[in-house]
Amino acid sequence: MQNKINIGLIGAGTVGGGTYKILKENFSEIFRKTGKEIIVFALAEKDLKRAKEIVDDKTIVYEDAFDIVKDKNIHVIIELIGGTGVSKNLVEEAIKNNKHVITANKALIAMHGEELVSLAREHNVNLAYEAAVAGGIPIIKSVREGLAGNKIEWIVGILNGTTNYILTEMKENNLAFDVALKQAQDLGFAEADPSFDIEGVDAAHKITILASIAFGIPINFNAVHIEGISNLEQKDIIFAEEIGYKIKLLGITKHHHDSVELRVHPTLIPEKKLVANVDGPMNAVLVQGNMVGPTLYYGAGAGAEPTASAVVADIIDLARNLESTSTTHIPILGFIKDEIKPKKILLIEDITSEFYLRFSMQNESGVVEKIKQVFELHSIGIGVIVQKEIKKDDGIIDIILVTSNIIEKNINEIINEIEVMPENKNKIVKLRIEQLNS
Ligand code: HSE
Repeated sequence: MQNKINIGLIGAGTVGGGTYKILKENFSEIFRKTGKEIIVFALAEKDLKRAKEIVDDKTIVYEDAFDIVKDKNIHVIIELIGGTGVSKNLVEEAIKNNKHVITANKALIAMHGEELVSLAREHNVNLAYEAAVAGGIPIIKSVREGLAGNKIEWIVGILNGTTNYILTEMKENNLAFDVALKQAQDLGFAEADPSFDIEGVDAAHKITILASIAFGIPINFNAVHIEGISNLEQKDIIFAEEIGYKIKLLGITKHHHDSVELRVHPTLIPEKKLVANVDGPMNAVLVQGNMVGPTLYYGAGAGAEPTASAVVADIIDLARNLESTSTTHIPILGFIKDEIKPKKILLIEDITSEFYLRFSMQNESGVVEKIKQVFELHSIGIGVIVQKEIKKDDGIIDIILVTSNIIEKNINEIINEIEVMPENKNKIVKLRIEQLNS
């Protein structure tokens, strides 16, 4: 019986520091749960000064991370440097050296998960990634294990703390986009390249992983439709609120009989829904199972200790299972290998949704009627129509309209027709609405 587990930690950044701290401060608690002494045996970090600020003298510090994955004393490698370049080579090397790997790297799993999972299966080691999705929320375990008895129907989540923080600050404190982003960076929430946050890529990595473990489909990042928040205007956040909605950047995946929806975009959700009130850097994930109904998970989606909390949960899982004959008794992607089957991912034009539209029209009598007529001609119902007062003297009014459910390519046709009207003075704003009904 092996009583000591030696960890090799790669990266002394935000999450690396948090992981070291938890393993040290909660050492006894973790021992009580595993019966093992879990030690950070070595740390790989190019910046030696930074490394020394984190670990004590007993921990070996490797400047070259390729040395840590070869170290025969190490049982588990924790990859916390992010990105998909060196980190991929390191994870591959660690697996080939028969080490279990834990990673918080959503980009790596979303883009190369299939090949890494195959490699891990070949070497009979585990590849654990709880921290890759929604930080401290145990959403991988919840979907893959806690809800395993269900057929998952859909998942909708606020999966990026940085953008949720920015949207909250823009609305609550009237902060400019750039100021709010800078704050999120200073607080350690943002990606090294924050365009991954604000353009929706980070949330797309996460919803891709969730779709795979929820529906038993291959991880397919290239199929996600991605829109971020950089084009979102403050006036739409305000107008949406006036008609009872909040705008959140959502990752959405839905299972249909012969297809799957996989998309990330700013979305209007009814203000009464719990998810609409998830603010700041917090994340929330709503999972609909066919037996359990809706389930909601809330918690810190970014930051040192919350993310490290998920990393350490993976370490504890491994520690508890090291003696079992198969270390991968829970399929890494939730479904047994031969049952992971591709499904058509719907193009965004083919999804059905309600839409929020904002038109900038010349303030002339009959303009609202003209818009209504186009909808009538296409037999599309309109739920709400609001004409805003003119604040400027340019004679242009904002008209807000909410549609009934319609296929996206049909709403695009209507938009194209209205955009060429002489009264139309700007690009029409189109945002999707989710009612989040179970
Ligand atoms: N940049 C990410 C976020 C970090 O803001 O959610 C956690 O994955």
